[in-house]
Amino acid sequence: MSTVVNLAYLLAACLFIVGLKRLGSPATARRGNQIAAVGMLIAVVATLLAGRILAPWMIVAGLALGTALGVIVARRVKMTQMPEMVAALNGLGGAASALVAWAEVTRYQAAAGEGLAGVGFARHGLGAMDAALVLSVLLSVLIGAVTFSGSAVAYGKLNGKLPGNPVSFPGMRMVTVLLAAVLLAATAYPLWALGDSAYDPGPLALGVGATAGAALLLGVLLVIPIGGADMPVVVALLNSYSALAAAANGFVLRNYALLVSGALVGASGIILSRIMCQAMNRSLLSVLVGGFGGGDAAGDARSATGLSVRTIAPDDAAVLLGYAGQVVIVPGYGLAVAQAQHVARELSELLLSRGATVRYAIHPVAGRMPGHMNVLLAEANVPYDQLFEMDEINEQLARTDVVLVIGANDVVNPAARTDPASPIYGMPILNVDHARNVVVLKRSMAAGYSGVENDLFYLPNTSMLFGDARKSLEALVAEVKLV
Ligand code: TAP
Repeated sequence: MSTVVNLAYLLAACLFIVGLKRLGSPATARRGNQIAAVGMLIAVVATLLAGRILAPWMIVAGLALGTALGVIVARRVKMTQMPEMVAALNGLGGAASALVAWAEVTRYQAAAGEGLAGVGFARHGLGAMDAALVLSVLLSVLIGAVTFSGSAVAYGKLNGKLPGNPVSFPGMRMVTVLLAAVLLAATAYPLWALGDSAYDPGPLALGVGATAGAALLLGVLLVIPIGGADMPVVVALLNSYSALAAAANGFVLRNYALLVSGALVGASGIILSRIMCQAMNRSLLSVLVGGFGGGDAAGDARSATGLSVRTIAPDDAAVLLGYAGQVVIVPGYGLAVAQAQHVARELSELLLSRGATVRYAIHPVAGRMPGHMNVLLAEANVPYDQLFEMDEINEQLARTDVVLVIGANDVVNPAARTDPASPIYGMPILNVDHARNVVVLKRSMAAGYSGVENDLFYLPNTSMLFGDARKSLEALVAEVKLV
């Protein structure tokens, strides 16, 4: 039986890897998700059957209930609520890992009380408790509990139930140091007690209790100082933590599927957090200790220096577009706010039908969550082959007749390249200022997420088309038809 189960786990692991690989491109992401889900189904069913944990009818009933709940939640959740949903799922995953580790200790304790050393953890072929196992249990509880409470705070901040601004209080650092000391002691004591009596689970149970309490508080303290708008990075990081807790659980339960999936998701979560930080030109540390994010530092310094912006009306912008050979569309957060993705596609189809080449330039952190623009454009059925990543499209921007910036701001700010004093200096951007003409669709001169004024708006090749992105695009569609 164990060979069959291990083969099932191997198959599941292969499906996870193939699934993850396919998530790397918008064209294959849906299929990747389905493949990984099949892998998870195989792993879950194999575990439940092999461990004789549940009767087959219960497995079927559980699957049906879980699937129904999953479908309802997935259908109800709005695109903009995705980060908070991921936060909730991470938190539940973390809690599950901590509870499983705790349950194993309780089980071991009960068995030891009845003089049954050799069951509990040992049913997985382990003769006695050893240091590696003790550490795995404590890590599962520590990371799982931090993830649970941290994700609960992230969830609250994202859906507005908790204040989104960074929160701190005097002595916060001291409390964190104190909690770290408790965690160290809670780990050291069961390890030290191992030498005395290999089978006494008492010290481990105490260590688990203290770790759970301290870690729950630590999770809260780690996330409250972070600004609401930085939350997507934190959610990606917590996603990785929840997976690491599951991997530690894999050691406790000697379950290879948990180990492999935990390691895969843990690594990809960390890579994603890193990519997001790099694309925002911020260190993970600066996100974690708070910094910019949600601020509105934009002033009217430019108007004071006499620089002015050029506005453009939809009919003039339509003439520019109507006669352009190469058009690049840069979607940003404002496109999502205005829900303008469908009319953006309508405009690009119109331009294509007039013989223009139309490409969409996707910045890795445009919008407010990973893949935000890809998902929006996919929803509007924009063909994947029209989507270009930053590095690919940047080479072509100098040869572009018109760049249409729709509700994007920070990701096209040339100050990131040219002004060492700018807070966003060094952030990789789409070099739209190199194009022949730039038309920016936004409602006002307000700054974007970073709160930094945008030099692009003042360049001679830039024109501002003020208004809600959807309304402006609708006007452009109507006017291009007349050109
Ligand atoms: P932003 O720099 O935030 O700018 C968005 C612009 O959209 C605003 O300046 C706003 O100007 C405009 N806008 C809002 N509603 C609009 C509407 N209805 N119609 C037209 N325009 C509208 O967006 P971006 O360029 O996409 O950059 C994303 C920023 O978020 C980056 O700084 C990035 O680091 C940060 N961030 C991203 C992520 C991820 S993972 N994507 C996570 C956290 C933070 P008006 O108010 O004048 O209209």
